Amino acid sequence: MGLAAAPFVVTAACASGGSESAAPARGKFARRLPIPPLAASTVDDSGVRHFTLTARAGTSEILPGRGTPTWGYGESMLGPTLRARRGEAVAFAIDNELPEPTSVHWHGMHVPARCDGGPHQSIEPGARWEPSWTVNQPAATLWYHPHPHGSTEKHVYRGLAGLFLVDDDTTDTLDLPKTYGLDDIPLIIQDRRFTADGALDESDPTDVGLLGDTIVTNGIAGAHLPVSTGLIRLRVLNGSSGRLYNLGFSDEREFHLIATDGGLLGEPVPLRRIQVSPGERIELVVAAGDGRAVMLRSHPIEGRGGVDRDAAGYGLEDTFDVLELRPDRELLPSRPIPPTLAAVPRLDPATAAAERSFELRWFMINGARMDMNRIDFAPVVGTTEVWTVRNVDNWPHNFHVHDVQFQIVDLDGSPPPPALAGWKDTVYTPPGTEIRLAMRFTDYTDATYPYMFHCHLLLHEDRGMMGQFLVLEPGQRPAPMTMAMPSD
Ligand code: C2O
Ligand code: CU
Repeated sequence: MGLAAAPFVVTAACASGGSESAAPARGKFARRLPIPPLAASTVDDSGVRHFTLTARAGTSEILPGRGTPTWGYGESMLGPTLRARRGEAVAFAIDNELPEPTSVHWHGMHVPARCDGGPHQSIEPGARWEPSWTVNQPAATLWYHPHPHGSTEKHVYRGLAGLFLVDDDTTDTLDLPKTYGLDDIPLIIQDRRFTADGALDESDPTDVGLLGDTIVTNGIAGAHLPVSTGLIRLRVLNGSSGRLYNLGFSDEREFHLIATDGGLLGEPVPLRRIQVSPGERIELVVAAGDGRAVMLRSHPIEGRGGVDRDAAGYGLEDTFDVLELRPDRELLPSRPIPPTLAAVPRLDPATAAAERSFELRWFMINGARMDMNRIDFAPVVGTTEVWTVRNVDNWPHNFHVHDVQFQIVDLDGSPPPPALAGWKDTVYTPPGTEIRLAMRFTDYTDATYPYMFHCHLLLHEDRGMMGQFLVLEPGQRPAPMTMAMPSD
């Protein structure tokens, strides 16, 4: 665990939860935040936008001066940022040059089940997978990552992950910071642990998975972001296996939340803290301030959020410095944040065609573990459903649903706070919570290929905290399931 060579070691600080925060030390965040390149694409005569991705092994300098064996898409780790417009047809050629099967899942994207990239769309070593679909959802910050049954945590931990940005007419016209890499900054936050020789340490997962003692942003530890504009937009992905972040700034400045997983909120929400659990995305806009550096920081979670004290090493009481923002002395002016953002029409839970309930407990959902040959239920296309999710464990879990973006109807019986009132595909469910979700199934049906729902703490997912549903036409029957289950 010792990490003398790291430029930045997470401090087990602030046991008292005090918010007095020393100004960030300048030397520690010496490297500039890398910005994942925008993926190259070509548009063919019929208007289809084509991308290629190659999953392969490489070596990355996560720690300065150290080479760490990693996996990435084209890059030595992570992958290029994919970008497409609502209404656009996209097609992918994905090659697997890794020594083992993988898959590529489009987290948050509404895609046909056979293109979803879940455990049923395994790409063998040396093979190519070519999914295609038409993007049809509001502008959002989505992401892509492997989803092979039983080894998702390892594949993501080794570096396979990237962002997928969707644009639409609203984001075209809205006065938000939108110059990629200048005032619109992708920020993939992960935690990693290293062995003495600089390799990723994959040993000793806790019950919440592999936890790192080093925060890695866009693939490097100890990054700073030079800021040259008055306002800066951060598109944050928690790409960690199991860690929960409670983000804010070191000087407690206010920021505005403008989007969650599935897109823009109705209006900006002023906040000083926001929790982001694994798989979730947020977009926030913050003022660069008075020329002094400020730290984006994960703060202690009050009362550990009800999580069992046995969750040893989870770090819920700890402070993690994530990214130092270093504003120029002279800043380019930014337009003020618009007071209204996007229309978020509410789904009406009273119209639900079905209600379902899910109990999260000890690596199982409703007492069952994932079986690739078991379909748990089958919503009918064109209907709305209400799902009640209860965490009846002492452990943290969250809940992710493929195919749809959902809305939180209520949380322990109360309407969701404004930060949770928009489109979501993953929601944190601390111990003891009960949360109702409304979602609508549209467009795609398939009697053979299911969508997944699962805990997005990747170890929990791998250990079977996942189930499957088909979306069917009215009266349609599921096809028999004959998937080989990879043995662990
Ligand atoms: Cu991001 Cu089923 O996963
Ligand atoms: Cu879990």
